[in-house]
Amino acid sequence: MKNPVALSENIYWVGVNDYETQLFEGLWPLPRGISYNSYLIVDDKVALIDAVKQFFLPDLLEKIDRLLPAGQSLDYLIINHMEPDHTGSLKLFPQLFPRMKIVGNKKTAGFLESYYGLTEPVVVVEEGEVLDLGRHQLTFYITPMVHWPETMMTHETTTKILFTGDAFGGFGALEGGIFDDEINPEYFDYETLRYFANVIGKFSPMVQKAIGRLKDVDIGTVASAHGPVWRQNPRHVIEQYDRWSSHRTEPGAVVVYGSMYGNTQRMAETVARGLAAGGVKEIRLHPASTSHLSYILADAWRFQGLVLASCTYDSGLFPPLRLLKDFLSPKEVSQNRRLGILGSYGWAGGAVKEMQEFASKGDWNVVEPVIQIKGAPTEDALEQCFTLGKNLAAAIKA
Ligand code: FEO
Repeated sequence: MKNPVALSENIYWVGVNDYETQLFEGLWPLPRGISYNSYLIVDDKVALIDAVKQFFLPDLLEKIDRLLPAGQSLDYLIINHMEPDHTGSLKLFPQLFPRMKIVGNKKTAGFLESYYGLTEPVVVVEEGEVLDLGRHQLTFYITPMVHWPETMMTHETTTKILFTGDAFGGFGALEGGIFDDEINPEYFDYETLRYFANVIGKFSPMVQKAIGRLKDVDIGTVASAHGPVWRQNPRHVIEQYDRWSSHRTEPGAVVVYGSMYGNTQRMAETVARGLAAGGVKEIRLHPASTSHLSYILADAWRFQGLVLASCTYDSGLFPPLRLLKDFLSPKEVSQNRRLGILGSYGWAGGAVKEMQEFASKGDWNVVEPVIQIKGAPTEDALEQCFTLGKNLAAAIKA
């Protein structure tokens, strides 16, 4: 094959870009696409590490076919992660490669049966077990819940390449540049954050465990299942995941408002003015009705301050804010964060009460004043909103 994407002499990227899927997991927008990274190791035994989404099987097969030496076929499919964006075409593999064995851990085996009815030919590996391909040796590290119970990582000892599955991955197709030294890594930083906040963040304690487990592993390259291959500076993406999963937030604030006729919006904008007057330069104002949840979550994950402003709707929170609340709570975004609460109502309240109940269930540090108004905000009410913004700014900087 001419111009293969080589990670080393006999290890190749054979992944694909997906510009077709609009919503990852049926939820998260992909305006810049996404890559499903698959890797081929050609040795005495040939191994494929992770596959691709079902629709892209022909692309993957063509790339494999062009790299396979005459007389060789796939011997192993290593499954670091079972989610169908990497295994959707799996059922066809035993027919396509009759000699091939599927390698995973005991939890992988359970998913192979429940998703694809496959019970053989499966090789079950344990933590630290080594698979000998000839010149290459693969060591397996079991890293559960990054992102599913069976997730694991595969380290190739001679090249120091760590194949990480979803971990250290991000949204965004690979637009020519595959490696971090071929791209501007900053272009991928936000899409990596958004992927983390939307897909992986809930499992932050397990990400921390996995990063701890890797401390003694010699990592020369991070080859994730999504996004760039980090060969020049693999620490960059590991440190990003370490920061987000340990809730080391940045000095900034996200103001999310739900407003039907502009009254709550005016209050939220006044809080944002107070934040700016208090010296906060990173402020993100999101109308909950039109800003996709995906982006609100990414910003909420990044910054220390969060302001929820909601009109009352059906005696409670404005529905888009209720959806945000449902995602914030299980994703444990309350750690190391300051929260501002305000709202309005027409004839009977409910939104502010619901937000206060939400705040009491997490580790939120609620900044005063909590503001609730009837009808349109008065000058006094707007002054309170400005004060809330300044108090939040002071809390963020403290
Ligand atoms: Fe890339 Fe959890 O799948």
